[in-house]
Amino acid sequence: MTTSAEPPAATMSYDDMVRPDAVHRAVYTDPAVFVDEMTRVFARVWVFIAHESEIPEPHDYVTRDLAGRPVIITRTRTGEVRVLLNRCRHRGATVCREPAGKARRFTCPYHGWAYDNSGELTGVPWPDAYGEDFKKADYPLLGARVETRHGFIFATLNPDAPGLSEYLGAAEEKLDMWVSRFPESKVAVRHGRQRMLCRANWKLVLDNSIDGYHPAFSHRALLHVAARHGDGRDMGYFAEAPDDSPLYVQYLGNGHGFLDQRPAYSGAGSYFERQRPAPGREHVAERVRGEYPDEQATEYLDLSVGAQMNFTIFPNLLFVGNQIQVLEPKAVDETVLSWYATSSDGLPDPVTALRMRHQEDFPNFGEPDDLANFAECQRGLGIPEIEWVLMNRGFGAMDRVKVDGDIVTAPVTHEISPRGYFEFWRKLMSQEV
Ligand code: FES
Ligand SMILES: [Fe+2]
Repeated sequence: MTTSAEPPAATMSYDDMVRPDAVHRAVYTDPAVFVDEMTRVFARVWVFIAHESEIPEPHDYVTRDLAGRPVIITRTRTGEVRVLLNRCRHRGATVCREPAGKARRFTCPYHGWAYDNSGELTGVPWPDAYGEDFKKADYPLLGARVETRHGFIFATLNPDAPGLSEYLGAAEEKLDMWVSRFPESKVAVRHGRQRMLCRANWKLVLDNSIDGYHPAFSHRALLHVAARHGDGRDMGYFAEAPDDSPLYVQYLGNGHGFLDQRPAYSGAGSYFERQRPAPGREHVAERVRGEYPDEQATEYLDLSVGAQMNFTIFPNLLFVGNQIQVLEPKAVDETVLSWYATSSDGLPDPVTALRMRHQEDFPNFGEPDDLANFAECQRGLGIPEIEWVLMNRGFGAMDRVKVDGDIVTAPVTHEISPRGYFEFWRKLMSQEV
């Protein structure tokens, strides 16, 4: 521990900031680290940017951030998805200033340069003033590389990045598994997102996403509410010697992680039966059971509640129940979290309605607990006298850890996921990969 109030981060290398079982507080608090992260992490790996169901028709678009850069995600006349830097080639203004809409072209509000929605510059006002050497083809809106899986659009600004499949690695199979719960594996991500401003570094959110240690304490109130409706309710198992349960966490390589709650359930029907209360739940259950054969009704009701899988695709896409949560880092101590509900056209309407009610549960009754802890971690980490942040749970109990190629599996409270992704982060930040 240093006795000076000056943070030593300025003189530390990224290799020094990450130890096998701890990280230096600077990774969460130093604005210079944040600036490097935007280029060395977010601009180099594949980042989730939108879902195709948000831009279903030609000429639909949404605007987002990619590595802190404003971008437009468009569907062109021919149905192709493009991710374009929202930066006019003339003097730099953003050409699109709406969150979403429909547009065949984007005309820069400053001096009127016009681009079609594939990014080509199609016109400049009074072109005679530009010499003959001026070629519109030389000034398109610049694009990012794009690949999609199950409609999830990933983009990268790195021309040398490996393909998306190679980057996802073992996480691709988890995505397939999560999506397979939707009829015909077709997911629709709803436009209405619930945006939350988190006064904390983006990695505090990521650390928490595969953390089976905190629910019994952080979400105690929610667990008490559930317990009033019977034993063994959703998440109650986190309070009872969770490391002796069959729940587990996995580190999947390339920063991705997985937490499986499904072993706490006893198969068909148990997912619905053990979920917390939701408005209209009993009414919908009665209706579905009245209208469909037993097995079908049970399957529909199980689909109305969460997947009981949490997983993360590094660095910014989190799957929680049936929702996805997307991280947009804004500053070293500020992150926007967006929760999106999902649905499927293949489900009966009452089941979809109940899915929506269940998806309102955790963001409203669980996430505020987490947000409070993230902000309070950020405050605590501002204390310069204590430099190291521990991630050593399970580090000395390697006999309980299974390693299979890239995949590391451990009891559910072990901190293997943050240990794993910080090693990947260290390599990216040191530019070793
Ligand atoms: S900045 Fe876009 S036209 Fe001038
Ligand atoms: Fe939580």
